[in-house]
Amino acid sequence: MNRTKSQELFSRAQARIPGGVNSPVRAFMSVGGDPVYFKSGRGGTFVDADDNEYVDLCLSWGPLILGHAHPAVVEAVIDAARGGLSFGACHEREIQIAELILSAFPYHEKIRVVSSGTEAVMTAIRLSRGVTGRPLILKFDGCYHGHVDGLLVKAGSGLATQAIATSQGIPESITACTLTCPLDDEQALREIFRVHGGQIAAAIIEPLPANAGLLVQRTEFLELLRELTRANQAILIFDEVISGFRLRFGGYAGILGITPDMTTLGKIIGGGMPVGAVLASAATMDQLAPLGKVYQAGTLSGNPVALAAGIATLNQLSDGAAYMHLEDLGWLMESELRSSGIGCQRAGSILWPYLSSGEPPRRPDAVSSEAINRFNSIHRPVLERGYYLPPSAWEVCFLCTSHTPEQIRGFTRVLAECLRG
Ligand SMILES: Cc1ncc(COP(=O)(O)O)c(C=O)c1O
Repeated sequence: MNRTKSQELFSRAQARIPGGVNSPVRAFMSVGGDPVYFKSGRGGTFVDADDNEYVDLCLSWGPLILGHAHPAVVEAVIDAARGGLSFGACHEREIQIAELILSAFPYHEKIRVVSSGTEAVMTAIRLSRGVTGRPLILKFDGCYHGHVDGLLVKAGSGLATQAIATSQGIPESITACTLTCPLDDEQALREIFRVHGGQIAAAIIEPLPANAGLLVQRTEFLELLRELTRANQAILIFDEVISGFRLRFGGYAGILGITPDMTTLGKIIGGGMPVGAVLASAATMDQLAPLGKVYQAGTLSGNPVALAAGIATLNQLSDGAAYMHLEDLGWLMESELRSSGIGCQRAGSILWPYLSSGEPPRRPDAVSSEAINRFNSIHRPVLERGYYLPPSAWEVCFLCTSHTPEQIRGFTRVLAECLRG
């Protein structure tokens, strides 16, 4: 493939943008080579600056469940934009999206809409601390919750549960308020609550961890987390920024049969535009300003154009038909990968080819470095054959309603060929 224009654009970008990118994983650092510059997308494919077309298996990291430029979403955005880009004041779409989202989360009563998943998590953390009057947050190794200071952490050494920062610029006084626990480890979880239970404001977890591969958890582990948070009056936050509306019209919590106290959302609820949200009981949510003393605000929160994209996307999903179609596509990809001998973990339309044999990992430290190296070595050859995988072995693939069985079969054939070398 000729990518002269992409290369020129990347050179220009590097002169003015750190690493040439506005979000680090886009820089292709772990898979090597230069990033590709895109100019348009439609359905399950997008086109780069040199007019090469790719089947998109990254889909903007999850929001584009209907694919690129879905006509209903684009129409809604154009219509909203004609009526004004931002009001900084109240409008009806705020109520429409609140009602639509809450109809799918019957265990929550109120919602605050923000502009990103990170902002939603940040709000959820502050609100949890405000409501409980406690300082500590429990996080699980391998889960990602956006670039919130106190959550950019990894486990400390030895038996300590005290977190250490994974980024410079985060004072110890902040990480001192985060505890970490391995996924899939009941004993460690019990011990943390035994020692710190009375000081934990909230435990935050991706109920379907999808940021260090797809680390599907045993329901018993999540049930224990629910039990311990309840027994210790700590808030259980399900971070469903990826899983919310991805597998069903609602949360992954509904599949698990576990009810969290708070949910954070993002990605799909914005349909490709910047929208995040926090949901909880009315009593909890009313602790937010202006009614309560926990402050949170945003110039562009509930932006009318962004909400138009979110509402249009959710309306396309609400009758459930899209999920049946996505399940069929997901199953096709999983079975094609397996019949080519490629290990694959899947939840609906989220797939993670983990490129090693044996049981799918449930913790990041169970992922072999050979599998990571294998992914890094095939990323470029797969790209050259017209399939855009997320540029990191730790990232999952997403399918959209407009992917076709031919595209999926084409991808699995190419992946198998590239793995054979
Ligand atoms: C589970 C989870 N929470 C929070 C975030 C942060 O969302 P955003 O990138 O919109 O800030 C992400 C982003 O990928 C995520 O996967």
